[in-house]
Amino acid sequence: MNTPHFHYRDGELFAEGVALSTIAKAFGTPSYVYSRASLTENFLAYDQACRAHGRGEGSALICYAVKSNANIAVLNLLSKLGSGFDIVSGGELQRVIAAGGNPHKVIFSGVGKTRDEMQLALSHDILCFNVESIPELHRLNEVALSMGKRARVSLRVNPDVDAKTHPYISTGLKDNKFGIAFEDALPTYRVAASLPNLEVTGIDCHIGSQLLDDAPLLEALDKIIELVDQLASEGIALHHLDIGGGIGICYDQEKPVAVGDYLARLFARIDRWRAEKYDNKPLTIMFEPGRSIVGNAGVLLTEVHYLKHGSSKNFAVVDAAMNDLMRPAMYEAWHGVQVVRPQSHDSHIYDVVGPVCESGDWLARERALAIAPGDLLAIMSAGAYGMTMASNYNTRGRAAEILVDGDQFSLIRRRETAAELFALESIPT
Ligand code: LLP
Repeated sequence: MNTPHFHYRDGELFAEGVALSTIAKAFGTPSYVYSRASLTENFLAYDQACRAHGRGEGSALICYAVKSNANIAVLNLLSKLGSGFDIVSGGELQRVIAAGGNPHKVIFSGVGKTRDEMQLALSHDILCFNVESIPELHRLNEVALSMGKRARVSLRVNPDVDAKTHPYISTGLKDNKFGIAFEDALPTYRVAASLPNLEVTGIDCHIGSQLLDDAPLLEALDKIIELVDQLASEGIALHHLDIGGGIGICYDQEKPVAVGDYLARLFARIDRWRAEKYDNKPLTIMFEPGRSIVGNAGVLLTEVHYLKHGSSKNFAVVDAAMNDLMRPAMYEAWHGVQVVRPQSHDSHIYDVVGPVCESGDWLARERALAIAPGDLLAIMSAGAYGMTMASNYNTRGRAAEILVDGDQFSLIRRRETAAELFALESIPT
């Protein structure tokens, strides 16, 4: 694990300067706890690498992937640091705006944008639509026409490279639903360029998530560069190239490429190419990172309620469940488990499970833990795709969210109550 702002002090796990037990006492469990310092550092790793290569405001844009952690306090912090946003729904756009984010730094990804979403995004004059099909181009053109606007578009091209990650989070291969097939990209650009209410401004790709190595990203870049050259020869000049997100984090022993090293290699190729072929004509480079910014900036804090010692397995039943953190059930994802205040209990091998009525409801398997009921556990590296994928299954209110800043902490989302969960329902009269 690489969670620098979560550390032991005086025998207890802290988030920055706050003991996690203090947070549990104040707001209960399960709760997501995020470190502001960690969020900031992770964003700045991108920002500073861009600046180190002479790419400041205007020539590089980091569009944080809202889907990875959408709390408006997180969005507000990133926006203040200069971040743009990659959204995939009208709801996410409304969040960005509520958080004080700049809609002119918003790009809109996703294969299924509705007319209403397009209209909302156009009314806020977002930076660009990442379009994924010809029918979507036509729909966007119609919506823009009806509003007397021109929509800026980029085509999400599928470079058909293997991201070598979990099949559910790999998106750049031929046989998944994302993007426009590489061989169809040119004709699709011709269609886009012919539609009067569209303005072709960019190209993008996103090949998958939790990539530990940047080789597939650089391979994707080479293919995108090839396309940009072909487009230029047809008179379609682009203003930006968006390489997507995908850089992984260390959950256990993984050694993901450092953001600075990846960006150095990427900019070296881009700069060489622009110098050779375009006389250094500017091209804005964009990124859509999610996990690498928030993943290791958050933990899920939970309390042990029961220990069940069986003949073949031991279970630690905690108050967090698959509805709070879906990743283990969905991808067999591994998250570290830390005891908040380690005591001298006997150690046993446990499966850490929640109260939800599903065998798939587990958070960690076969972990040696010295614990007793009432102990607090931190499920580590849970800042990305934790709360955003949470559900109300079993009529469980979603967890509270807390942001720690030094020795201060704030509740940034209160726990849902049961009454709120059925407040929208009604019994027919
Ligand atoms: N851009 C697009 C178009 C995406 O689809 C995604 C993530 C990102 C950017 C951000 O990728 P990141 O930098 O976070 O890898 N729920 C899964 C991950 C799904 C990723 C979906 N797309 C998980 O928990 O591992």
